[in-house]
Amino acid sequence: MATPVTFWINDRLIETEAPDGMLVLDYLRKNRFLTGTKEGCKEGDCGACSIVLGELKDGAVRYQPVTSCLVPLGEMHGRHVVSIEGLNLKTKLNPVQQAMVDRCGSQCGFCTPGFIVSMCWYMMASGDEEPTLKGFQRAFSGNLCRCTGYTSINRASEDLVAQFGSGGQLEYIWKADDRIQALSDAGLLPAYFTEMADRLAAIEPIEEERHDQAADAEFFVAGGTDLYVQRGEELPRSNVKILNRHPEMKGITRDDDAGVFRVGALTTFEEFGQHPEIQAIIPRMDHYLFLIASLPLRIRATLAGNIINASPIGDMTNLLLALDTTLVFHDGSAERKVEMKNFFKGYKVFDKKPNEIMTELLIPIPEEGTKIHWEKVSKRKCLDISTVCSGAKLRVSDDGIIEEASLTVGGVAAVPLWLKETGQFLVGKTLDADTVRAGLAVAHTEMSPISDVRGSAEYKRLLAHQLLSAHFTELYPDRVSFDALMAG
Ligand SMILES: Cc1cc2nc3c(=O)[nH]c(=O)nc-3n(C[C@H](O)[C@H](O)[C@H](O)COP(=O)(O)OP(=O)(O)OC[C@H]3O[C@@H](n4cnc5c(N)ncnc54)[C@H](O)[C@@H]3O)c2cc1C
Ligand code: FES
Ligand code: FES
Repeated sequence: MATPVTFWINDRLIETEAPDGMLVLDYLRKNRFLTGTKEGCKEGDCGACSIVLGELKDGAVRYQPVTSCLVPLGEMHGRHVVSIEGLNLKTKLNPVQQAMVDRCGSQCGFCTPGFIVSMCWYMMASGDEEPTLKGFQRAFSGNLCRCTGYTSINRASEDLVAQFGSGGQLEYIWKADDRIQALSDAGLLPAYFTEMADRLAAIEPIEEERHDQAADAEFFVAGGTDLYVQRGEELPRSNVKILNRHPEMKGITRDDDAGVFRVGALTTFEEFGQHPEIQAIIPRMDHYLFLIASLPLRIRATLAGNIINASPIGDMTNLLLALDTTLVFHDGSAERKVEMKNFFKGYKVFDKKPNEIMTELLIPIPEEGTKIHWEKVSKRKCLDISTVCSGAKLRVSDDGIIEEASLTVGGVAAVPLWLKETGQFLVGKTLDADTVRAGLAVAHTEMSPISDVRGSAEYKRLLAHQLLSAHFTELYPDRVSFDALMAG
């Protein structure tokens, strides 16, 4: 079923009743013949389908890169969809296109529109920091190229850094308060971009309550990054509930009275990991983000989606489980709370009724001295799901007594595993290599890994052992040195 949606594709106003669950990629290519956006893997892995999505926030349009092969059309109401065609200038190449030509950044060309879209996003909307090669690389971290070996694309990026970075002749554009206006004034971005805030503001929002049509929905779609990979054929023909039409289920606030962070269930990985309150309690969060999916995926993937997908190796799931998170559900009439450690019942079996929407996560504000750590091993370092991952929340008194030990492992059981008995064993003991070794022995009794494409059961046990050890050696190197732990 379709709710009529109104949005802009490039410089054109679109009003459509095409299915809510149709992919933006298919709509662009099949309904609008905008075939510059390529269909590669259709699983979020290659970036050939990259677009930039603009959304009105506080009177300005905020642009983000996403993979259009995982984004439902029904979410586009009031948005600005920028495809590769929308970045073209009338009489010349834009600076990114020119740099790619100058440096031979394109060979067969299939990946090229996706790279250019990601790089243009970095030019347009990446924030205040000076442009860097690393910044460009982060922007195209979700784009794969099988021809160039990336060297020529890196060189094109370096050219752009030289032009727009400090000392470059276009440095003033990067420093401008409104970079899109500055790029447009300099003739480097189509002029219509400067009108988009007013154009989006003129679109009336869809009046829809959070639970409207929820009872009839065959699918609740959040970021769509699991659903479209798993059920992509069915979604365009199904009755879907587009959860992202309810931005009130996003955001992070600190509630000191209740002693929790209130985290909207639709908060994305990127929003969670970049939030100052979260970075204050998890100092290495920025590094952890780098190990999870790619930027366009993290911009879409929500915490609720990760938890309800119920994969034993869900990265955020394992971290949130270690943080003693409570999940809040609503069925349209009543609210229900479930401790995450009691949520998972078996492989992809969990305590949620079909019409319940997860609205919020409650994360206890850690006590003074608490340390949080997370580890992941995957076949590839980037853009790959975990073989085994593990989270830890530990608190140790000044005299070395373990006061809190919440440990999780993903990939060694049918569910994301909270190590209840290991935690109980550790609390009250003195933290040293002997205690950790004994704790690890308990942990092994709680695990039941199986052999699959990601590795043998023995290998996963070994990984879990190493990752659990790493929590202690990384957080408390003075009490548990790696050498002492290995020596026993
Ligand atoms: C290329 C690629 C790379 C990936 N890399 C990683 C990775 O490194 N680590 C990792 O952990 N995951 C990874 N994933 C998996 C995926 O991105 C995450 O699991 C993500 O968190 C899913 O969230 P979503 O919002 O996209 O969920 P969706 O796909 O929209 O939904 C997933 C499930 O949750 C349900 N749901 C979602 N929100 C709610 C809600 N509020 N209430 C009720 N039900 C809800 C949906 O109905 C559906 O059943 C990857 C996926 C892809 C395609
Ligand atoms: S087609 Fe590969 S990421 Fe979309
Ligand atoms: S140029 Fe061929 S895949 Fe990149």
